[in-house]
Amino acid sequence: MESNRREFLKGMAMAAGAVGVTTGCASAAGGAGEGGGAPMRNFRCAPMKRIRVGVVGCGARGTGAVRRLPSIPGIEVVAVCDIRPECAERAVKAVEEKTGRKPLSFTGSDEEFKRLCDLPQVDVVYNTTSWNAHARVSLYALNAGKHTFIEVPSALYLDDCWALVETAERVKRHCMQLENCCYGEQEMLALNLCKLGMLGELLHGEGAYIHDRRWQIFNDSQWERWRNHWNELHAGNQYPTHGLGPIALDMGINRGDRFDYLVSVDGVQKGYETFAAATLPAGNPGRAQRFAMADMNVTTIRTALGRTIMLQHDVTSPRPYSRLNLIAGTKGVLRSYPRFEIFLEGKDEWPKKGGHHLFDEKATQEIKEKYMHPLQKALGEIAKKAGGHGGMDFMMDLRWSYCLQKGLPLDMDVYDLASWCAVCELSERSARNRSATLDFPDFTRGAWKKKCNSNLMDAEMDVSQIDFSTVGKLKGQMSV
Ligand SMILES: NC(=O)c1ccc[n+]([C@@H]2O[C@H](COP(=O)([O-])OP(=O)(O)OC[C@H]3O[C@@H](n4cnc5c(N)ncnc54)[C@H](O)[C@@H]3O)[C@@H](O)[C@H]2O)c1
Repeated sequence: MESNRREFLKGMAMAAGAVGVTTGCASAAGGAGEGGGAPMRNFRCAPMKRIRVGVVGCGARGTGAVRRLPSIPGIEVVAVCDIRPECAERAVKAVEEKTGRKPLSFTGSDEEFKRLCDLPQVDVVYNTTSWNAHARVSLYALNAGKHTFIEVPSALYLDDCWALVETAERVKRHCMQLENCCYGEQEMLALNLCKLGMLGELLHGEGAYIHDRRWQIFNDSQWERWRNHWNELHAGNQYPTHGLGPIALDMGINRGDRFDYLVSVDGVQKGYETFAAATLPAGNPGRAQRFAMADMNVTTIRTALGRTIMLQHDVTSPRPYSRLNLIAGTKGVLRSYPRFEIFLEGKDEWPKKGGHHLFDEKATQEIKEKYMHPLQKALGEIAKKAGGHGGMDFMMDLRWSYCLQKGLPLDMDVYDLASWCAVCELSERSARNRSATLDFPDFTRGAWKKKCNSNLMDAEMDVSQIDFSTVGKLKGQMSV
C-alpha cells in the first residue's frame, strides 16, 4: 500500500537524522489562503437541515460512531465503508437496528472509500480509519466537496497538515479533528475559567496521554497491527492532542498566540519488551519485535507569548490512565488527573500547611458548580446518558452537527487540527536529534495575531427545541 511505503520512508528519513527546516514547507502549493491569513477561521456554510454522514473505517472507533451518530438530532448515517467486509457488515447492522434503515455499504478494498466520498447524498465524511489512512481518505473526501471530520491524530506529517489546510481552504469545506478531548467536563470548566480570567494571565499548561495499551500489542485479532507498525517506525509523541487540544483552546492558540517552537526528549523503550517476555511463549516472533517509540516522551512547547506547555506520552507502562490537563496562570491553577483540583490565589477557602498552599476539595467543588461551562450545564446529563468517553463524544458530535444545521462556524477548525497534529512529526525529529529545537509552521500565515475567543469558549446552545428522545445508553463504547 502506498501509505505504508510512505510511512516507512518517512520513518527512515527521520531515523537518519534529517531535521530540516520545518517552516520552509509553508504553503508551497499556494492555497487559497496564501498571504491572506486564515480564510477558514470562523468559516460558515449555508444551514443544513439534515446532515447525511458517510463513515469510513468501521473498526473499534467507527463502530462506536455508527451507534452514536443516529441518536443525534439531524444526523443520518447514509453510508459506511471498511476494507474488511465483516466490519462494514457490522456497521450496517448497527445503523439498521437503530433506525430501521440500511445504509449503503462499501467494502473489499482500500479504494472503496472513494465511492462513498463521491456519493452526492453524503454531506459529511466521518473518517475513523487507522492513522496511515487518515490523510489519503480525508483529502479525497474534501476534494469530493464533503465536510470532513477526522479521528485523532488527523495528520501525522507536516506535509499532510499543510495539505489539509490548503485543500479545506480551496474547496471551502469544514475540516475538524474528532476525539479532541475539548468537550470533557473538566476541560470545559478550565476553558470557562480562562474565558472569565479567573486564572489570570495564562503562563503554563501540561497535558498527557498515559494509557497502558500493552494488552493490544500482540493482539491476534490484527485490529491493532497498524498501531504496532507505526510504533515500530516512529519515535517522539505520535498521540499529542488529547493533552494539547484543550490547553491550546485555553491559551487562544492561533487566536492571539501560537506555538512557536518545541524540544522533545525520548527515554528508552523497555515496556514492550518486558511485557512480551512475560506474556509470550519462547519462540513467538513478538518477543523479537522492537519499537522506535520510547516508553516516555516528554515534549516542551514555547508559545509566541512566552507560555510553556509540557506534554507526555506513554502507552507501554503499567500506569493508571491520565490526560493530566493542567492550566496555570498568574492567579491560580486547575488540574485534572490524578485528582481534579483548583487553586485560586487570594481566597480564604484554600488551606495552608507549614506556609504552603494546599488544594481544597470543597472549594474546588464549589467553583466547579458555579463556573461550569454553559454547554455542560445544558447538556452534561444527557451527554453522560448517551455515553462515549463519559459523554465527550456525544457533546462533540452534537456541537458540530448543531453548528452545521444553524450555519454557524465550528468550535475548532483546520488550523487547530494542523497546529496540534504538527507535534507528531516535530517531536519525532527533535527527539531523534538530541532534542533539537524546531519551529512550528504558522498554518494561519499571520492571522494568529488577531486575538479572539475560540467558538467553544463562547458556545451556547438553545437545546429547548432539540428532541433527545432517541438518545439512550449506547453499547460498545471504547475507553479513551
Ligand atoms: N479505539 C479507541 O479507543 C479510539 C479512541 C479514540 C480515537 N481513536 C482513533 O480512531 C481511529 C481508529 O482507531 P480504531 O481503534 O478504531 O482502529 P481499528 O483498527 O479498530 O479501526 C480502523 C478501521 O479502519 C479500516 N480502514 C483502514 N483503512 C481504510 C480504508 N482505506 N478504507 C476503509 N477502511 C479502512 C480498517 O479496516 C479498520 O476496520 C484512530 O485514529 C484512533 O487513534 C481510537
